[in-house]
Amino acid sequence: MPWTERQQALLQGMGLRIWSPPPPAALRPAAPQAAPLAAPVPVEMPAEPPAESPTPAVAQRVEPTPAHPVVSARTPPAAPAAAAVPPPSAPSPQATGVAAMDWPALREAVAGCQACALCESRKNTVFGVGHTSAEWMIVGEAPGEQEDQQGEPFVGAAGQLLDAMLQAIGLTRVEADAAHQVFIANTLKCRPPRNRNPLPEELAQCAPFLHRQIALVRPKVLLAMGRFAIQQLLGRDEPIGRLRGQIHDYHGTPVIVTYHPAYLLRQPTEKAKAWEDLCLAVSVYRQRQGR
Ligand code: URA
Repeated sequence: MPWTERQQALLQGMGLRIWSPPPPAALRPAAPQAAPLAAPVPVEMPAEPPAESPTPAVAQRVEPTPAHPVVSARTPPAAPAAAAVPPPSAPSPQATGVAAMDWPALREAVAGCQACALCESRKNTVFGVGHTSAEWMIVGEAPGEQEDQQGEPFVGAAGQLLDAMLQAIGLTRVEADAAHQVFIANTLKCRPPRNRNPLPEELAQCAPFLHRQIALVRPKVLLAMGRFAIQQLLGRDEPIGRLRGQIHDYHGTPVIVTYHPAYLLRQPTEKAKAWEDLCLAVSVYRQRQGR
């Protein structure tokens, strides 16, 4: 099926060149669900992306396949030695109180948090943004300089790419209904100095906030972007290349892992894989919608 003009514009916004299929008579695949391919490398799409929105007219059941196995966070991975990070539910001093908070209490707790040294260098805490009952939740890493200044996640260059990626599958961070407006949160609510990687103790202290956000939002699909989001949600530390293409589990919510937009800006050839991941997430979402 050819891309619509709108989809082409969106994919180009993500930096993906459109691969035009050869003449239909010669090479059009027989399978109706065979999707167009996006350059720079030919990839097999797991599902046809939606024309306008991730909300299909008819729910479509997507069974796990060998290509997209369901993997539980609590199922020991095939190579346990490679996943030596603390479990996602590692206890933290804050955990008990935070787990019972409503949105206003949680916002207040984040705004006043002094559980780690990041509170000394931050300008603003970055709570998260979006629909509080969003069906899609995006988890990133930590605020950068612009996010620290504005108090909103993903407002810099990586954020622009994230917005284009979301738009390509019919989603937005701006006001819309719960099926279309996502909720975006980070593993850390404060900026690490000079954008260094989050430290394990910072991740552990901040984890209850993210876990509570997910519990309050109750998304149908979680998109974990980058290694720290994956660690925080799944307790897995393998390379993303080994974890993507699977349906992971966070306390009953499916998790699709993908590359962080900042990484995609540095490695644009990986954008085609991120597009595959988004298509997988859409398939999983459609399946959940049918329930
Ligand atoms: N990168 C992230 O992971 N989160 C932000 O908010 C900004 C950049």
